[in-house]
Amino acid sequence: MNRAILLILTSTILFPIYGFAEAKPDQINAPFIQNQKLRRTINLGNALEAPSEGDWGLVLKSEYFSIIKKAGFTAVRVPIRWSSHAREDKPYSIDQSFLQRVSWVVDQSIENDLSVVLNMHHYIELCSSPLAHKERFISLWRQIASYFKDAPDSVLFELLNEPNGELKANLWNQLLDECTSVIRKSNPDRTLIIGPSNWNHISTDLDKLTLPDANVILTVHYYEPFHFTHQGAEWVDNSENWLGKEWTGTVDQVSRIESDFVAASEWAKKNGVPVFLGEFGAYSKADKQSRIKWTNSVRHHAEKYNFSWAYWEFGAGFGVYDREKNEWREPLLKALLPSHPSN
Ligand code: BGC
Repeated sequence: MNRAILLILTSTILFPIYGFAEAKPDQINAPFIQNQKLRRTINLGNALEAPSEGDWGLVLKSEYFSIIKKAGFTAVRVPIRWSSHAREDKPYSIDQSFLQRVSWVVDQSIENDLSVVLNMHHYIELCSSPLAHKERFISLWRQIASYFKDAPDSVLFELLNEPNGELKANLWNQLLDECTSVIRKSNPDRTLIIGPSNWNHISTDLDKLTLPDANVILTVHYYEPFHFTHQGAEWVDNSENWLGKEWTGTVDQVSRIESDFVAASEWAKKNGVPVFLGEFGAYSKADKQSRIKWTNSVRHHAEKYNFSWAYWEFGAGFGVYDREKNEWREPLLKALLPSHPSN
């Protein structure tokens, strides 16, 4: 559907039907407008979500932001392990120096006219013991939200990457409600990004997700077939057994992507939210041609259903940028941005 028509529909039809009582029509349009700015995003993975930046070999540099902008991306998603940079006990204060580092990332993004998604990544303890960590999680967001309350609307907050483990749908929905109402006190108009339990998987728990208010974008991740995208991934048990698995774009392979995306798109329409495919990528140990074909096909399907997307990731194990040679891996970049003039 044409985006302009979609916007009119969301403000005139969905507002009364899906009735977030206090939402004004402009708050309903906001996430669609914000999502448009995320239409070609890249994840700055393996930097700020490592226990300390640099532990996983990647330190963010100023030049990356202009390189990303020049290639044709519109936004960056920044995975951040806030939980390693805050006190374990009350009041769970976040290190000021870490907040300043994230603030530098935000400034670099703004200077380069890139939207920026600040997420909470790898809060492993929250997923294994949600009740014990709930108060700390909400407190972290209270602090982040307050620190960035005056940031422009090109800064978006994503509440939690890939909720999993004991953080199951019901609990996650409750946490989303509580956390959103805390964020709303300092950021009444900021667009938030949220995804379903069970690792933000595109289908398994989507039906169980409830939206905390109207100014949100739905995020889902796509790594299917997992044995193809994660072959040889050191952090996935037995994945060395999957090495050599190819993806050639057969009718069956493509129709799997198609049906997964149609279902998510239908859910989003029914619930009046735009969709952000916040992660997708195939690890560098997979066959190169297969990676290019798969990346191109997933990106194509995202665009077909009006999902914005974020490739996982910039310059590490899935990387589209070769940091040693200081150059893009052109075929992979072209799979992501086929029509950009510089590619
Ligand atoms: C995880 C990364 C991982 C990627 C692909 C991300 O959400 O945080 O550690 O490399 O998914 O598995």
